[in-house]
Amino acid sequence: MFDAVAHRYDVTNDVISLGQDRQWRKATLAALDAQPGETVLDLATGTGTSAEPLADAGVRVVPCDLSEGMLAVGYKRRPDLPFVAGDALHLPFADASFDAVTMSFGLRNVPDVPAALAEIQRVTKPGGRLVICEFSQPTWKPFRSVYMNYLTRALPPLARAVSKEPDAYVYLAETIREWPDQHALGIMIKRAGWTQVAYRNLSGGIVALHRGTRP
Ligand SMILES: C[S@@+](CC[C@H](N)C(=O)[O-])C[C@H]1O[C@@H](n2cnc3c(N)ncnc32)[C@H](O)[C@@H]1O
Repeated sequence: MFDAVAHRYDVTNDVISLGQDRQWRKATLAALDAQPGETVLDLATGTGTSAEPLADAGVRVVPCDLSEGMLAVGYKRRPDLPFVAGDALHLPFADASFDAVTMSFGLRNVPDVPAALAEIQRVTKPGGRLVICEFSQPTWKPFRSVYMNYLTRALPPLARAVSKEPDAYVYLAETIREWPDQHALGIMIKRAGWTQVAYRNLSGGIVALHRGTRP
């Protein structure tokens, strides 16, 4: 499915998130606080949109994704980045390879989330950081119902207008509705063995940023 949407992926994101995705990426970068010379894994990198500013800031970023179609679009735009094909459940990296791992809008797509959180921990150095940016639940009830209506009613026609694969965006709406809220995801991250787990909401909780540290 991601291979099929790869070519128009970034522009579709901008449209269906009403431009909000740019703010979410900025906040994720700030939370990661990667320093020049650090080695960072951008897991489920897609076309590498979140990896680019890291590379430009002198961070040794490894963009990794399961979809070869997404990687091909990314590589065409940024042939200088070391794109790697890999599955979050079986990462092609040695233990303790990274100072930090970040994953934006990818964890929701992995079939076994606790296993992915453990696998990410395996490749993170002790003391290394995890930052996850993922859709979540708006915390203010009236806004939550407006948003859920947007997902169910407004998003599919919008997706049909800008994407050749509107089914992918119906799938997007379904995965957002079924995904655990911010508190429940925090508990899953703790249970997977991460410490200093905390989160903050973005755009009223449409998105949540979770962080953790490998003990
Ligand atoms: C919604 S996109 C997010 C892409 C990018 N991080 C961004 O913020 O634009 C989700 C990505 O997760 C990838 N993905 C899904 N399952 C995966 C897995 N098991 N391992 C690695 N990547 C996966 C998909 O191929 C897709 O590129």
